[in-house]
Amino acid sequence: MATRQDKREMSGTNFDGGFDALSCKDNNEEHPPYPPSNHGSQSNVWQVILAVLAVVLLIVDISLGAHYKILTDTHLTAEDVEQIRSEVTYLEDSYKNVTTTMQEAQKQLDSEMGSQTETNWELEHQNKRQTDYKAQMDKMKNDIASMRTDLSMIVGGCRHCPPGWILMNSVCYYFSFSESAGLKTWNKARDFCKMYGGDLAVIDSKDKENATVKILLNNEDLSKPLNGFWIGLRDSDQEGTWKWLNGTVLVEGYWNDGEPNDANDEDCAAVYAKENFFKAWNDFTCGATMKWICEKAPTSTS
Ligand SMILES: *[C@@H]1O[C@H](CO)[C@@H](O)[C@H](O)[C@H]1NC(C)=O
Ligand SMILES: *[C@@H]1O[C@H](CO)[C@@H](O)[C@H](O)[C@H]1NC(C)=O
Ligand SMILES: *[C@@H]1O[C@H](CO)[C@@H](O)[C@H](O)[C@H]1NC(C)=O
Repeated sequence: MATRQDKREMSGTNFDGGFDALSCKDNNEEHPPYPPSNHGSQSNVWQVILAVLAVVLLIVDISLGAHYKILTDTHLTAEDVEQIRSEVTYLEDSYKNVTTTMQEAQKQLDSEMGSQTETNWELEHQNKRQTDYKAQMDKMKNDIASMRTDLSMIVGGCRHCPPGWILMNSVCYYFSFSESAGLKTWNKARDFCKMYGGDLAVIDSKDKENATVKILLNNEDLSKPLNGFWIGLRDSDQEGTWKWLNGTVLVEGYWNDGEPNDANDEDCAAVYAKENFFKAWNDFTCGATMKWICEKAPTSTS
């Protein structure tokens, strides 16, 4: 719209200016631009050049005039202007929408790539599990009876955890994050938990493992060497049979690659703030000093 108007104005200016200049030169025969006496032949050449220029200008002016007429005939009514304006607005809207859609698509792509990684981890983990699945089945059969013990359900009342403990899925947990808590051997850590009527934490499901490691990831300074946190799992009979504190045989472990390796009599298990929580465990000598995680049932008051 603006461009067309500009063109029209420009062509108008050229038309007037060009024609005026032309007629001015043509009618000024009595005041020739150069004295004819000294430069007779040169003056003739100039006159020819001027005449040619005049013709060229005339042709240019005529064609510009014709162009101007076409533009005038194009008939731009107020509705046309309005329509063009709304088309421009529509195009701007479309552009914004496309930009927004692209940004959203990018976000979605990013988040799907994220969950894809975790899915791959899980797949890798499951493949690894499958190889010793049969052995695990035997262990599970042996322990099926002990697996069927009563779960003490808390009926009614408020559930309380000691100060500094957190309630997660109806269980109180203690993570020895603070510097002042220091480091303890597996047995000393266990004593600490028992002092509160609890014990070292049992992480016997994927969801517990996921939640535990997420808490570690959220609270540990990941730029420093990672702390290990003792859990209630040990290799009690020196035969590589890992058992939870209550005697249940380990069914599904979340060991790091190559662990447990039982190097130097490593008979106690610790969990780390590893992003791939399926590979967050390591075995250590029980006398090593580490941080630790306790669990206990909440006390209820009614
Ligand atoms: C842009 O998106 C809005 C709402 O998302 C919608 O109402 C509008 O019609 C869209 N505009 C175009 C030009 O697609
Ligand atoms: C040991 O603890 C786990 C988790 O708390 C529980 O599922 C299991 O039944 C317990 N086994 C025994 C023998 O108490
Ligand atoms: C781990 O827990 C988070 C929520 O904290 C959940 O979004 C994610 O799907 C869980 N991962 C697995 C493999 O269960």
